[in-house]
Amino acid sequence: MKVLVIGGTGNISRGIVAALLARNYEVVLFNRGQHADPPPSDVRVIKGDRQHRDDFEAKVSAENWDAVIDMISFNAEDAASAIRACQGRVGHFVQCSTVMTYGPPFSGINLPETAPLQGTSGYGLNKVAADNLLLEAHANDGFPVTIFKPSYTHGPGMNLLRQVGGDGGWIDRLRKGKPILSAGDGLNYFQFLASRDAGDAFAAILGKTECFGEIYNIVHPQARTWDEWHGAAASALDVDIEIVHVSQETLIAMSPERFSGLRGNFGHTQIFSHNKLAQVLPDFCPQIPVTESVAENIEWMDKHNLIPNSDADDLEDRVIETIRNLPRIR
Ligand SMILES: NC(=O)c1ccc[n+]([C@@H]2O[C@H](COP(=O)([O-])OP(=O)(O)OC[C@H]3O[C@@H](n4cnc5c(N)ncnc54)[C@H](OP(=O)(O)O)[C@@H]3O)[C@@H](O)[C@H]2O)c1
Repeated sequence: MKVLVIGGTGNISRGIVAALLARNYEVVLFNRGQHADPPPSDVRVIKGDRQHRDDFEAKVSAENWDAVIDMISFNAEDAASAIRACQGRVGHFVQCSTVMTYGPPFSGINLPETAPLQGTSGYGLNKVAADNLLLEAHANDGFPVTIFKPSYTHGPGMNLLRQVGGDGGWIDRLRKGKPILSAGDGLNYFQFLASRDAGDAFAAILGKTECFGEIYNIVHPQARTWDEWHGAAASALDVDIEIVHVSQETLIAMSPERFSGLRGNFGHTQIFSHNKLAQVLPDFCPQIPVTESVAENIEWMDKHNLIPNSDADDLEDRVIETIRNLPRIR
C-alpha cells in the first residue's frame, strides 16, 4: 500500500509512520522539512507548505495514493484544498479531527460519535467545518473519507501535559521532590492515548471501505484520573509525588494568566466512547503501559531541553504556600 501522510514528523504522525512502516507500506510524507526530529530514512518526503495551495495541490495530485492521512487540516479551507488535491487519486482519505469538536461544554460522558458538536473553541469549530466539508464530499461525490477524532495523545513530539498547564517545568518539580498542583480533587477523568498506539489505529483502518463516510473516536478505553496521570509521571521518573489539590476557581482567581486554560479544557471530565472503533478494529487495543509511554515522552523532552528549571518560576510554590497557610476550620 502506498500511503501519503500530510505532516508526518509530528507527535501523532510519527506514531502513524512507525505503524505504516511496520506493515511494510510505502510511506511518503508531505511537510516543510522544518521539524527538529527528521523522519526515518526509509520514507520519501515531498517538501512543501500546505498553505501554498497551488503548490500543495499540484504535488499531491501528481501521484495516485492508496491512502492519504491528513494530520494538519484545521479548517474548511484546508479540507477543500485536500479534496481538490486528492479527488480521483486516493483510495482512502483519513482526516485527523479531534474530540474537542464535542465540547467543552460536553453533553455527558462516554460520548459516542453521534454526540452534539457543541465545542466552542475556535479550534473545535474549525475542525467541525473541515469535517463537514469532507463528509459532504463523501455524500455528494463519493470522496472516500474517514474521520478520526483522537483525545489527548502523548509521546515524542510534544510536551507531556499536566492538568494545570502545558510547560515542562512540572517534570523538574517532580525530580526535585517539590509538590505539584492539581485542580479540584484530582478525580476528574480523562483519556490518555500514547501516540504510538494512536498510530497503530490510523494504520489499521486504511483500506476498510465500510469506514468511508464514518467518524470514529480514537481514545484509550480506560479513563484515568488526573491524580493517576500525575502519579504515572512520578512512577516513570521513579520519584515520590505530593499533589496539592486546589479548587479550579481558586487557581484561576490566583493567576488567570496561568490557569484560565482549565476552563477551556482540562478542568472537565472528558470521556469518549471507544465502542464504534472497536467494532471495525476488534484487534485494536492500546498496548503500551502508561509508565513506558510517559517515560518515552520525558526522554524526548530531555533530549530537546524542554524541561525548564522550576526554581526560575516560583508561582506554583507561592500558590501552594498561600493555600497551606489558609486558616483551618476545625
Ligand atoms: N496531540 C493531541 O493531543 C491531539 C488530539 C486530538 C487531535 N489532534 C490532531 O492531531 C493533528 C496533529 O498531528 P501531529 O501530532 O502529528 O502534528 P504535530 O506534532 O503538530 O506536527 C505537525 C506536522 O505537520 C507538518 N506541518 C506543519 N505545518 C505544515 C504546513 N503548513 N505544511 C506542511 N507541513 C506542515 C510538520 O512538519 P514541518 O514543520 O516540517 O512542516 C509536522 O510533520 C492535528 O490535526 C490535531 O488537531 C492532536
